[in-house]
Amino acid sequence: MPALHFPRPALAGEMARSLMGQAKFDSEANGLFLAAPRRTGKSTFLRADLTPALQALGVEVIYLDFWGTAKGDPTDALYAEVSRALLANAGVVARLAEKAKLASVKLGAGGASLEFDATRIGKAPGSSLTAAFRELIEASGKRVALILDEAQDLLISPDGEAVLKELKAARDTLNLPGDVKLMLVMSGSDRDKLGRIVNTAAAPFYGSRVRDMPVLDGDYVRWLAGELVKAYPSLGVVDNALLAHIFDRLGHRPAEFDRVIGEALVPTHRAGRGFDETLLERAQRVVEGEEAVYADRFAALTPTQRAVLTVLLERGPAFSPFGAETLAACEKILGRKVATSTVQAALNKLRDADPPLVWKSNRGEYALDDHRMVAWYRAQVAASVRPPAGAGSTEDRKNRAAPEH
Ligand SMILES: Nc1ncnc2c1ncn2[C@@H]1O[C@H](COP(=O)(O)OP(=O)(O)OP(=O)(O)O)[C@@H](O)[C@H]1O
Ligand SMILES: [Mg+2]
Repeated sequence: MPALHFPRPALAGEMARSLMGQAKFDSEANGLFLAAPRRTGKSTFLRADLTPALQALGVEVIYLDFWGTAKGDPTDALYAEVSRALLANAGVVARLAEKAKLASVKLGAGGASLEFDATRIGKAPGSSLTAAFRELIEASGKRVALILDEAQDLLISPDGEAVLKELKAARDTLNLPGDVKLMLVMSGSDRDKLGRIVNTAAAPFYGSRVRDMPVLDGDYVRWLAGELVKAYPSLGVVDNALLAHIFDRLGHRPAEFDRVIGEALVPTHRAGRGFDETLLERAQRVVEGEEAVYADRFAALTPTQRAVLTVLLERGPAFSPFGAETLAACEKILGRKVATSTVQAALNKLRDADPPLVWKSNRGEYALDDHRMVAWYRAQVAASVRPPAGAGSTEDRKNRAAPEH
C-alpha cells in the first residue's frame, strides 16, 4: 500500500480552537498535553493536521520533535528552533544580519526599533524565552504556537526543567484571559513520562492535565479499506470488521497495519488462502514476534534486574526507585536482602540496554521506555506463564553469586 495520509480535520480544528481559548469549556489555553502510544500517529497528526489547522487561524507554528535529538541536548534544539523562527520572521534586516553573522538584530526606524540577539536565546541575560516569544509575536504580527513532540525528553537535559519553567513563565506573561498569544502543545508516547511535567507539585505545568490523544479508529479503517479496494479491485469486498479487529490487535499502528496488508497481498504468502485469512495470520505473526522480543529481553536480564523491572511494571507511575516498598517488593521476588545500591545498579543497566528498557528524568524519576511492555506483562501474569522473577536457573544462580555491577 502506498503511504497515504488520512486527514483528521475535525480533531485538529477542535484542538486549535481550544488552544486559542475559544472552547466554551475545558479550554486548553493553558497548554495542551497529549499522550498516545508509540507509532500511533502523534507526529503525523501534529504536523499534517494540527499545524495547518493553526496556520489557517493565522498562527505562527514552531514544531520540534525531540525524538531525533537523543544525542544532543534537547534544550539547545529548542533555543535553536525559536531563534530560527525569530530570524525568519524578523524581516530582511534580520536575515541580512544572520547572513553577515552579526550578533544582534536591529529593526525599525525611530521609536519603533526592535533589537534582539537571536543567537543568544537562553544564553545571556535579557535573552529569555519570554523575550524571544514577545519579539516573535511582534515581528510576525501573529500568535505563536510551540509544539514540542516527545516533550518529556526535555526532562533528560539538566536544563530541561528550567526551560519548561521558562515556557510556563512566558505563557503566563504573554497571555491574557481571552487573548492567547503563546500556545503550548506538548506530546509524548507515554502518559507516565509526560505526566512528570504536569503531575507533581514541583512539576513545571502542575495542575494541567494530560489528555489521551484519540488513536486512529473505525473511520481510518473504513478509509483505508476504500483505498485498498481502489488500488486492488480484484479483492472485491473487504471485511471492515475484520480489518478493524486486526488494526486493534496491532495496537492502532498504521505502519504495522500497512505492512501486514502489504504482506497479505503477496500471492506467495496467500498460498491458496483468502486475503482475510492471510491478513489475520500475518497480523498474528507480528504480534507474537513482538511479544517474543519482550519475553526474550525479560529472560535475558539478571534476577535483580528482572525483579526491579517487575516492580516498575507493576507499580507504574507510583514506582519510587529507592522507597521501602520497592526494596521490600524486590526482596520478596528474590527471596533475599537487597541493597539500595543494587537496585540503582540494576536500574542503570536497564537504562543502558539497547533499546533502553527504562527511562530516567533529570529529577531521578523512572518510567518504562516502551509502555507496550505493560500490556505484554499483564497478559503473562493473567496467563500465569510469567517466569518467576527470581527463578533459579544455573545462569541465575551464577548471577546471584556474583555482584551485579
Ligand atoms: N493519519 C494517518 N494516515 C495515514 N498514515 C498515518 C497517519 N498517522 C500516522 N500514520 C503512519 O503511521 C506511522 C507512525 O506515525 P507517526 O510517526 O506520526 O507516529 P508517532 O506516534 O509520532 O510515532 P513515534 O512514537 O515513533 O513518535 C507512520 O508510518 C505514518 O505515516
Ligand atoms: Mg512521533
